Amino acid sequence: MTRAEASNRGLESRLAQYGDPEFAAYLRRSFVHSMGFSRDHHRKPVVGIVNTYSELNHCHLGLNTLAAAVKRGVWAAGGLPVEFPVISLGEQFMSPNAMMYRNLMSLDVEAMIKAQPIDGVVLLGGCDKTLPALLMGAASADLPCIVVAAGPMLASDFRGERIGACTDCRRFWAAYRRGEISREEIDQVEQRLAPTHGTCGVMGTASTMACLCEALGVMLPGAAAIPAVYSDRIRTAEESGRVILEAIGEGRRPSQIMTEEAFENALRLLLAIGGSTNAVIHLTAIAGRLGIRLNLDRLDALSREVPVLVSVKPNGAYYMEDFYRAGGVPVVLKQLQSQLALDVQTIQGIQLRHQIAEIGFPDWQQVIHRFDEPFQSKGSLVVLKGNLAPRGALIKRSCASEELLHVRGKAVVFDSLEDLSRRIDDPELDVRENDILVLKNAGPLGGPGMPEAGYLPIPKKLKGVRDMVRLSDARMSGTAYGTVVLHVSPEAAVGGPLRYVEQGDLIELDVENRRLQWEVSDQELERRVRRFHQPSAPIPERGYDRLFFQHVQQADLGVDFNFLRHPAMNPDDPDEAKG
Ligand code: FES
Repeated sequence: MTRAEASNRGLESRLAQYGDPEFAAYLRRSFVHSMGFSRDHHRKPVVGIVNTYSELNHCHLGLNTLAAAVKRGVWAAGGLPVEFPVISLGEQFMSPNAMMYRNLMSLDVEAMIKAQPIDGVVLLGGCDKTLPALLMGAASADLPCIVVAAGPMLASDFRGERIGACTDCRRFWAAYRRGEISREEIDQVEQRLAPTHGTCGVMGTASTMACLCEALGVMLPGAAAIPAVYSDRIRTAEESGRVILEAIGEGRRPSQIMTEEAFENALRLLLAIGGSTNAVIHLTAIAGRLGIRLNLDRLDALSREVPVLVSVKPNGAYYMEDFYRAGGVPVVLKQLQSQLALDVQTIQGIQLRHQIAEIGFPDWQQVIHRFDEPFQSKGSLVVLKGNLAPRGALIKRSCASEELLHVRGKAVVFDSLEDLSRRIDDPELDVRENDILVLKNAGPLGGPGMPEAGYLPIPKKLKGVRDMVRLSDARMSGTAYGTVVLHVSPEAAVGGPLRYVEQGDLIELDVENRRLQWEVSDQELERRVRRFHQPSAPIPERGYDRLFFQHVQQADLGVDFNFLRHPAMNPDDPDEAKG
């Protein structure tokens, strides 16, 4: 056996193909020398540090410091760290929206992990779509991986009041739209909302996904909530570098760690922290890469068992830095222990039961509540079904107005995002406080990219109104709040019932009974289907946009591309086929 053939690890693995492996190895070594590495390093396990630092991603501005710390850990443990870039998705810097590019980023991550001479990876990310994309790619590549998140930014203050991105962004903007604060004041708020680098400092999608990484076993315990600018985070990054070496040595692959039981643990944690609705889509997509189908009905069943234990905005009063000081995810997992699968393995090679065995309850704080004295006794997320959402819709009950959880209201319909922005503040808009604002064509295809447009603004003419039922096939930011029904599936653009809802139709939302019902007779619906004529959106002629339009699936399938899901996912399933 030649030297090249013998090498399936380290820098001499995965050679470029010339039809002469020895020649390829000789060339590889030659260029490794040119990088300044001596021969001693050639056969060391290679840790790829997947760095999503970008000057167009403010959340990730601290990642280079974390990458340096990971390298220290890898060097100290006897490995060879090599850092490389992949696509980065800054939530506020992507048009039409970052979600449109999550799958593209996951393709990049998977391809680069598979193509390069790497034995395991440390995934550096944080902003909303980046941790999902990193995990989707790493799951498909199935090499040992550990996540180091950017960490949440610190809270700030405005005239003595604590504020932070981005629940307060929305609260102040709504107050500005109602005329309660001036242009000058909103300009001042704008300068105070995001005082440091790092991800949004509340339990938005970024923080939620980081917390779920702990439950999935691919992040060090307690790491999710460490503020971006704390030195604890740098030390955790260094430790992650050491742990990934061990995981490589033991062959701990994502498919062995992110098991069905681990995903169920993650769903329970999601409910207990009052996490983002977006996490349901991302978890579904990550699981789909591993051949695991997450079921909305199962989520709803769990929601009846798991109360909300964490009081962080947008559910509660506190910020992520408070959650960290209170003990973070390990304390919540300990409170949930009677409900968790405790024998799941983590990236550290220990069972969850041992990981949380010594965790106590910090009585001195009010951020995390005990299981038997929850912050809210009912589940934070509720799955709705009915003739308007045959494949499901989602509402974040924990952020909704109690008096709006059971309503029967008149639909005020907007056909698209453009229609919404054109008419929402029209003084002639036919709308009253008890109506239901309906937005169509903002789903995976209709958006496109399923924008975070589900948090429709309250029409300006309804002065003083703070919440209304809003309903759409869109998503909303994890930092948002209100009585907002999201992810209606199938979406209007692929012919879901939502397509045929008209101004003045009656819709009943009954959260307690999980119902979303549209009052339309069969004859009337048939008439509307026959009459309806909407030219199908033209399929883009080329490029990524075309790939997206041809392959993206519906919300209940994680908005992933059909060809990226695990081959074991049943292609004959009619829902999968409808995608
Ligand atoms: Fe990046 Fe909020 S904008 S996490």
